[in-house]
Amino acid sequence: TELDRIRNFSIVAHIDHGKSTLADRLIQLTGTVAERDMKAQLLDSMDIERERGITIKANTVRIEYPAKDGHTYVLNLIDTPGHVDFAYEVSRSMRAVEGSLLVVDATQGVEAQTLANVYQAIDAGHEIVPVLNKIDLPAAEPDRIKEQIEDVIGIDAQDAIPISAKTGLGIPDVLEAIVQRLPAPKGRRDAPLKAMLVDSWYDIYLGVVVMIRVMDGVIRKGDRIKMMQTGALYGIDKLAVLKPQMVDIAELGPGEIGVFTASIKQVRDTRVGDTITHEKKGCDTPLPGFKPAQPVVFCGLFPVDANDFDALRDAIEKLALNDASFSYEMETSAALGFGFRCGFLGLLHLEVVRDRLEREYDLDLITTAPSVVFKLFMRDGEVRELHNPADMPDLTLVDHIEEPRIKATIMVPDDFLGDVLKLCQDRRGLQVDLTYAGSRAMVVYDLPLAEVVFDFYDRLKSVTKGYASFDYQISEYRQDNLVKMSILVNDEPVDALAIMVHRDRAEARGRVMCEKLKDLIPRHMFKIPIQAAIGGRVIARETIAALRKDVTAKCYGGDATRKRKLLDKQKAGKKKMRQFGKVEIPQTAFISALKMD
Ligand code: GTP
Repeated sequence: TELDRIRNFSIVAHIDHGKSTLADRLIQLTGTVAERDMKAQLLDSMDIERERGITIKANTVRIEYPAKDGHTYVLNLIDTPGHVDFAYEVSRSMRAVEGSLLVVDATQGVEAQTLANVYQAIDAGHEIVPVLNKIDLPAAEPDRIKEQIEDVIGIDAQDAIPISAKTGLGIPDVLEAIVQRLPAPKGRRDAPLKAMLVDSWYDIYLGVVVMIRVMDGVIRKGDRIKMMQTGALYGIDKLAVLKPQMVDIAELGPGEIGVFTASIKQVRDTRVGDTITHEKKGCDTPLPGFKPAQPVVFCGLFPVDANDFDALRDAIEKLALNDASFSYEMETSAALGFGFRCGFLGLLHLEVVRDRLEREYDLDLITTAPSVVFKLFMRDGEVRELHNPADMPDLTLVDHIEEPRIKATIMVPDDFLGDVLKLCQDRRGLQVDLTYAGSRAMVVYDLPLAEVVFDFYDRLKSVTKGYASFDYQISEYRQDNLVKMSILVNDEPVDALAIMVHRDRAEARGRVMCEKLKDLIPRHMFKIPIQAAIGGRVIARETIAALRKDVTAKCYGGDATRKRKLLDKQKAGKKKMRQFGKVEIPQTAFISALKMD
């Protein structure tokens, strides 16, 4: 397809503003999926997905559109992940297209994610077409929202397109605007191949499917290609476009978006943002700005039932094949037995992986406190990475410790600014910048990642009623006064509860953790001391009083079945508990104890 007949775009929106509904409408109106098949087809593909595990990228699609100017255009819509954990991947995929539809719910207006996402698009140099959705609703206020878009985002919204993705109203105008208002891609057909790896996923029949955007040159079935960052060589087995199901195509030229398979075994062999060229007569310089996604948050995953260790290992290995940004190594904990130390891009990533392990593989897991990667500068000159506070060597061997810092950008309505500043300040933040856009403030903070990984999003969400948007980049490692704090339950250190903490905050954190554990650990037949300590010095302490009553006492000893039922119930409860010396700790305690309220 010729360059000036191609338009590549993404849709940016706050959650629930109608991104998926609009994508479906665009597909439907252009007959990409015949109308009468629409429901059946989409449902079908979902069934297939469920039955056979075939992954279908729902919102990535090539649409053919006969425009009013008499020409037929190829429109490529690509879907982008929406969460800050995958910020790097979002920013790469944004660079694969030239424009964005900015969908704003006309009853709600601009919200947190609208801002975060649209700024990504602006950063990528996109032309932006604002679309006001849900104007079928009586509460819609298109004129007010137009003004708000101009005030808050600072782009021209006078030509924003009023639509209802639900009824189909205005959809033809959106298609025309894509053609008329978004720029055509640029690129040279006679130049060496240069394509960006935008996304990749695993399909159980096809293996790894790689989505690319061709910048220069032409890629064809059978070509020998090279991934410039990894140096890996492959032969293209299948070349296709997504409509949204795969349809084979002979070649992809400049400006085009498609997928290929090349007998690649695992998703980890593909790197989002990598440059793909031909093995021979390739291009000299890769696309700029590549950086592999590095895990920044680590935690331990242990089976509740030690017999499940092999099942956990199998499950983790399978998941890892399909997730390049997830890392793992075996770990043994005195308290928790055999498990894995796993690395993630962020907290959401951690939760997604843990949920999948629990649901898809039916495992009961204990997750230890998330921790960042600290750099230990040893007295003998060695520099070590610390992935697990429990591995912290003797302090006398360590000269100093550095921790990762982030540059966090938070956008928030005026009313909540004070609370946001306080939250950042409480987390050892240093304010870098504060500016206003309409009634919204944009705050930039320099924060320790360690203070953000745990429950920062949750706190931010709750103090701003969900109206803040948050984004961050790792900025640098910096030295600070960090120490390891251990938690002792019944005089035994519980390695899974050890954390790295700033010296000045240790007492306060220790006190909070001890208080929480006091509530989280059920009473036993004996008194249980809970202590927080740095080195050998106890800095906080609580005691759980002894339990006196026997649970079966109230059954009078007569009714045997009732008694057994009660004991069974207790046993089931115990599955979620771990034994530490003589004490049983419920697994929820490992996370709850660390929340900072
Ligand atoms: P996520 O995929 O969850 O990010 O949401 P989304 O932005 O894709 O929103 P989605 O398309 O799922 O729409 C959210 C809700 O709004 C759904 O219940 C839709 O049926 C509804 N909706 C979407 N467009 C319209 C519209 O034009 N009018 C009305 N009344 N409802 C709409």
